[in-house]
Amino acid sequence: MTPDPRKVAILISGRGSNMRELVRQADGYEVVLVASNRPAAAGLIWAEQRGITTWSEDSRGQDRAAYDQRLGDRLKESGAGTIALAGFMRILGPEFIRRFAGRMLNIHPSLLPKYKGLDTHQRCLDAGDKEHGCSVHVVTEELDAGEVVAQARVDVSPLDTVSSLEAKVLEREHELYPQALARFVAR
Ligand code: GRF
Repeated sequence: MTPDPRKVAILISGRGSNMRELVRQADGYEVVLVASNRPAAAGLIWAEQRGITTWSEDSRGQDRAAYDQRLGDRLKESGAGTIALAGFMRILGPEFIRRFAGRMLNIHPSLLPKYKGLDTHQRCLDAGDKEHGCSVHVVTEELDAGEVVAQARVDVSPLDTVSSLEAKVLEREHELYPQALARFVAR
């Protein structure tokens, strides 16, 4: 099957709130597969209930290259031309990234290039930043370092905690990602 950029596969590891918004707000693209490296991911059940094809296989203890190959084959079989990572907590190997080069997006909870990696809300508070936010970026071999295609900002108040900041940023993620994905598949 020739990959169609408007056909999107979403990769999740957990609750999948961004995945749900990508499905609900799908405009100009179609979600053809939701895949997870955690079979217990809550988002999988939600997707199944909406008639979306799902795939999961636990990645723990698996050979990285062989796992990436199986996941990649499943994505290819789905006909997806765009892959959206949404809380996918597994590092993808270089071969996988090359296989889907320029066709993968991720959402990250910081204003990249600030705070690549984990604990972004804590690091923002520790630094005393006045603003924080989220970024949608193209996935490349270097973690959280690909082209930023969209960002949304939130103000940080002196009363903010990690959880209040996370909630504020997540709200913006839910608006930003579907819009950014719609633009990305059309470019
Ligand atoms: C979000 O904060 C996203 O930015 C990060 O992982 C979290 C996923 O949350 N990459 P959810 O599974 O989409 O609810």
